[in-house]
Amino acid sequence: MHIPKVISSLTLAVGALGKGTAVRKTGKGPTGYVVDFVFTPNSTTHASSVLLGGFPLFSDSLHGSLSKTDGYSPYEWKSDMFSMRLSPDYGNEADNLAGLEMTHNEHTGDWEITVPLPSGTWLYAYYPNCTTGNWRNCDVAIVDPSNLPIEAFAGDQLLSAIQLPFDREFQVNDYDWQLPLEDISKRGNVSFHRYSSPGSTYPYPNVHDVGVYLPYEYGKIPNKKYPVLYLSNGGQGSDSDWFQQAQIHNIVDRLINAGKLEPTILITPNWYDLGFTLEEYQTNATLQAEYLDVVGYSRFFNKVRENFFSYLMPWVNENYDVSNSSSNRAFGGLALGGTLTLAMLFNATDYFSSYCIMSPTPAPSAGDQQYNATISPGLRDVGILTGAGFYDTTFNAARDWETALAAENVTYLSHYSMSGAHQWSTWQEIVYVYLKEALWKPVPYGRKTSFNQVNPLSGGVPYRR
Ligand SMILES: *[C@@H]1O[C@H](CO)[C@@H](O)[C@H](O)[C@H]1NC(C)=O
Ligand SMILES: *[C@@H]1O[C@H](CO)[C@@H](O)[C@H](O)[C@H]1NC(C)=O
Ligand SMILES: *[C@@H]1O[C@H](CO)[C@@H](O)[C@H](O)[C@H]1NC(C)=O
Ligand SMILES: *[C@@H]1O[C@H](CO)[C@@H](O)[C@H](O)[C@H]1NC(C)=O
Ligand SMILES: *[C@@H]1O[C@H](CO)[C@@H](O)[C@H](O)[C@H]1NC(C)=O
Ligand SMILES: *[C@@H]1O[C@H](CO)[C@@H](O)[C@H](O)[C@H]1NC(C)=O
Ligand SMILES: *[C@@H]1O[C@H](CO)[C@@H](O)[C@H](O)[C@H]1NC(C)=O
Ligand SMILES: *[C@@H]1O[C@H](CO)[C@@H](O)[C@H](O)[C@H]1NC(C)=O
Repeated sequence: MHIPKVISSLTLAVGALGKGTAVRKTGKGPTGYVVDFVFTPNSTTHASSVLLGGFPLFSDSLHGSLSKTDGYSPYEWKSDMFSMRLSPDYGNEADNLAGLEMTHNEHTGDWEITVPLPSGTWLYAYYPNCTTGNWRNCDVAIVDPSNLPIEAFAGDQLLSAIQLPFDREFQVNDYDWQLPLEDISKRGNVSFHRYSSPGSTYPYPNVHDVGVYLPYEYGKIPNKKYPVLYLSNGGQGSDSDWFQQAQIHNIVDRLINAGKLEPTILITPNWYDLGFTLEEYQTNATLQAEYLDVVGYSRFFNKVRENFFSYLMPWVNENYDVSNSSSNRAFGGLALGGTLTLAMLFNATDYFSSYCIMSPTPAPSAGDQQYNATISPGLRDVGILTGAGFYDTTFNAARDWETALAAENVTYLSHYSMSGAHQWSTWQEIVYVYLKEALWKPVPYGRKTSFNQVNPLSGGVPYRR
C-alpha cells in the first residue's frame, strides 16, 4: 500500500499565504515584524467574538520559573523574553494562555488582529465565542483557512504555523535556521504514506500512517543509499507533528544546503492506534503502579518497538533507498517519544547508532540494570544526545537520566534550551543542535572534553564549550 499525500514545502513559504494571514516588516519595535492575522469565517461559522490563541505569552528568565510565568503580551515584548508554556500541573497556567481579542471588519466580514512577534515558529488557531479568555478552555478551535497545517488527515493538527524572520535591530535571538530554505529547488519533499500494520486502528483497520521527508537530491543520484533518522511524536501527537509544529523539513533543508548535515531521510512514525493503548496502562491501577514506575512505559514502548520492527522498518527498507547499516540509522523522540527512544536504546541498541532523547518522561533510575554497560556493552558504542528545556517539567528527569548514564561511564552530549519549557520551541532547538553537531558524526559522542559549537541563538557567534 503506497498512497502518498504530497505536500510541497513550496506552498509554506512566509509571505506565500495569499490574501489571508501574512507577515509584515515594520522597521519598528517591539520586534521589527508583525503578523496580520486575518480569519475569514465560512458561511456556517457565526461568531460573536474570536480569540487568537495557541501560543503561550511571554516571560523573561528573571521572572519565569517552573511554576510561574509573567504572561507578558506580544505588545509588551522585550528582547530578553520568550514564549513560555507552563504545564497544567504547575503554576499560573491561565495567565500565559490568555488569547488576544480579534476585531470584526464590517466591510469584509473578516476577523483581524495585528500582533508583533519575534523570529521563529508560532503555532496558532482561532477560537470563536470563547468567553473564558484562556484558549485552552475554548470549545472550538479553528485552524487558519488561509494557512492550513501540514497533516496526513484534516484534524490531525489543531494549530496553524507561521514563521517570522530575525531582525537584528530589535532582537537578540536568531531563529532563522527554522525558516524555509530560500532556494526552492533545494528543498526536500514531505509526504504521508500508509503501510500495512496488522492490528492498527487508524487511519484504517490494519493500516498505519507515517510521514516521510526526502532530501532534495533524492532520486537524482543513481544507486545512492541514504541514512535514516526516525523521529517520534510525543503524547497526544501524530506523524505530522515534526513537520507542522517543528517545521523540521526547513531545519534539515538548511543544514543540508549549508553542508552541515549529510542528506538524510526522515521518518516520522506515530505510536498511537497500533491496537494497544497507553491509556490501558493509565487506567488500570495494577498497571499504573508499574506505569508510574517506568516499567509500564517500557512495557508499552517495547510493544511499540516490536510493532515498528515488524511492520514499519521493513516497509521503509523496501520502499526507500536507505542504507542497511546501523551506522546510518538513528532514532529520536520527545517526551513520551523520548521514552520510546529509550526503549530503542535499551532494547534495539545495535540497530541504531545514534539516539536523541528530548524531554524524557521518567527514565529508569541510576542503578537499574537496563543501564548496565557490562551487561549491554553496546550502550558505550552508540551516540547519545539528551536534553530538555530549563523550564521544562521533565528537566529533572533529563538530569537524572544523565546521572544514570554517567554512573555507567556511558558518554553522551546534552543540550538544554535556556528559554525552553515543555514545548515545541525547545525540541526544535535540541534537534537542531543534534542534527548539526552530532548526527552521523563519529560515535560515541562526548569523548572529547571540548569542541567548537555555535550557539544556535546568538546569530552565529561561536563559543567554546
Ligand atoms: C466551516 O468551518 C467550521 C469550523 O472550522 C467547520 O466545522 C465547517 O465544516 C465549515 N463549513 C464549511 C461549509 O466548510
Ligand atoms: C456564537 O454565538 C452566537 C450567538 O452569540 C451564535 O449565534 C453562534 O452560533 C455561535 N457560534 C459558534 C461557532 O459557536
Ligand atoms: C514528493 O514525493 C512524493 C511521494 O514520494 C512524490 O509523489 C512527489 O512527486 C514528490 N514531489 C516532488 C515535488 O518532488
Ligand atoms: C490490569 O492489569 C493487570 C496486569 O496486567 C491484569 O492482570 C488485569 O486484568 C488488568 N485489569 C483490567 C481491569 O484490565
Ligand atoms: C539488512 O541487514 C541485515 C543484517 O544486519 C540483514 O538480515 C537484512 O537482510 C538486510 N536487509 C537488506 C534489505 O539488505
Ligand atoms: C526487551 O524486549 C523484550 C521483549 O519485549 C522484553 O522481554 C525485555 O524485557 C526488554 N528488555 C528491556 C531491557 O526492556
Ligand atoms: C552490572 O552487571 C554486572 C554483571 O552482571 C554486575 O557484576 C555488576 O554488579 C552490575 N553493575 C551494577 C552497577 O549493578
Ligand atoms: C567508570 O570509570 C571509573 C574511572 O575510570 C571507574 O573507576 C569505574 O569503575 C567505572 N565504572 C563502570 C561502571 O564502569
